[in-house]
Amino acid sequence: MEFKGISDSFEKLEVDALAIAVFKDEKANEGILQKLDSATGGMVTSVLEADEIKGKDGETAFLHIVGRDGLKANRVLLVGVGTRDDYTAARQFQLGGTAARTLRNKGMKRIAIIPRSESEAETAAATVVQGAVYGVFEPDKYRTAEKEKRELESVVVVIEGADNSSLNRGVERGRIVGESMNFTRELANEPGGHLTPTGMADRAREIASAFGLEVDVLDRQRMEQEGMGSLLSVARGSDEPPALIVLKYNPPDPGDSGKLLAFVGKGITFDSGGISLKPGENMELMKYDMTGGATVLGAMRALAQLKPPIPVLGVVPCAENLPSGKATKPGDVVRAMTGKTIEVINTDAEGRLILADAIAYAKKLGATRILDMATLTGAVSIALGDVNTAVLGTDQEFIDEVITAGAEVGEKFWQLPLDKEYSKQIKSDIADIKNVGGRKAGTITAAAFLKEFADEVSWAHLDIAGTAWGDEAKPYRAKGPTGVAVRTLIRLVERAS
Ligand code: BES
Ligand code: ZN
Ligand code: ZN
Repeated sequence: MEFKGISDSFEKLEVDALAIAVFKDEKANEGILQKLDSATGGMVTSVLEADEIKGKDGETAFLHIVGRDGLKANRVLLVGVGTRDDYTAARQFQLGGTAARTLRNKGMKRIAIIPRSESEAETAAATVVQGAVYGVFEPDKYRTAEKEKRELESVVVVIEGADNSSLNRGVERGRIVGESMNFTRELANEPGGHLTPTGMADRAREIASAFGLEVDVLDRQRMEQEGMGSLLSVARGSDEPPALIVLKYNPPDPGDSGKLLAFVGKGITFDSGGISLKPGENMELMKYDMTGGATVLGAMRALAQLKPPIPVLGVVPCAENLPSGKATKPGDVVRAMTGKTIEVINTDAEGRLILADAIAYAKKLGATRILDMATLTGAVSIALGDVNTAVLGTDQEFIDEVITAGAEVGEKFWQLPLDKEYSKQIKSDIADIKNVGGRKAGTITAAAFLKEFADEVSWAHLDIAGTAWGDEAKPYRAKGPTGVAVRTLIRLVERAS
């Protein structure tokens, strides 16, 4: 798929279809919508007056425009984007997705999108292109019948009067970020039998050599040398060896600020629960328990291409959580890299066990700020559903940065409290701490556990269990992995630069 930005008028564009944002309850009586209306001989007005589309978020109307001289394209897609006041990055992203997905499904090849955004051209173009790349993703790798064969050839973003070079810079950035989100989604969708910890490490090596990142993968032996008893305890039940992936992005002109931002992501390639076995229903979904790790890999893949001026570390502990004669048993006590001892009450609370050692290792490598992300608790879906990602941590400024970066790119984060009182719930009778804190405040006690390992470092944590998987398709995306947080991570680095 090719992408281009165009700052000329849209009438002469040689495309199969033109998509345009339509605001709630608007009439085609001003600006570019009026221009399109005249170019189509009043068809936009007639559709709007017939109430076929009211501009509500997610609505679309597809028009065949034949034999009109004013317009080269003979198809038009009106895409509702809600009210003008609320035309946020999220809506502009969805416009790109809905336009690309809908027109692709109608067999169009070359399309143009008119975002009508008031943001800077570079940002608007980047957002719409991200959405378009994202929108055409299909999780159908393993299908042989009825596989989606239709493909867009080109997408043009039209922002009349914009500066051409910033417009095209935005288009290129959007492509990189959109493709990296899809990289994360593709990994998240891989079945556990296909994507093992070794497979994750291979994918990390691939992006490192394709885009230029430092890479190191710790095997079991090196983990033992580092004393990572917590991470190792999770991998015990599986025949697949664990892997701790370390990626580093070095900027072209490395300063010496002494600061190092690290992203740490949970990479459980399949979570059966271990000896504390999960019920069978929906267990297949636990292939996506490595989405935190895939999010880190996706963000690092994009950063290597976008080349921001600050270094970034990516740490992804990978393991498979299975029961066997060798598996860790409820009641076992393990020793983490920091020396803390952990009573494993429930082997299904394994994410925090692997993150404990990964966070400690990120600190050993010099991280001064750590953001970890994980499909950590079922409880987060009860608290926030699939709308907001939970954010918790010890550094309020850092948490605020994450929330702001999210708002800028159109992703929602909601902070949950992390008062020290919650830590009482993870006190163990026989060890320093235990890995579960009872039924109350499950997302918070999981974070309270991680806090023990982040300790003094500036740290925040994202629980993406509720937002990383979309149970239903939307006009702007397929059902399945959402790629949540990839964009926010990239924005966070750009803001810190
Ligand atoms: N991977 C799960 C969390 C999860 C559950 C993600 C459902 C997505 C959907 C995690 O390892 C887990 O099993 N957590 C337990 C913790 C409990 C044993 C304290 C949970 O949430 O039930
Ligand atoms: Zn689990
Ligand atoms: Zn898990």
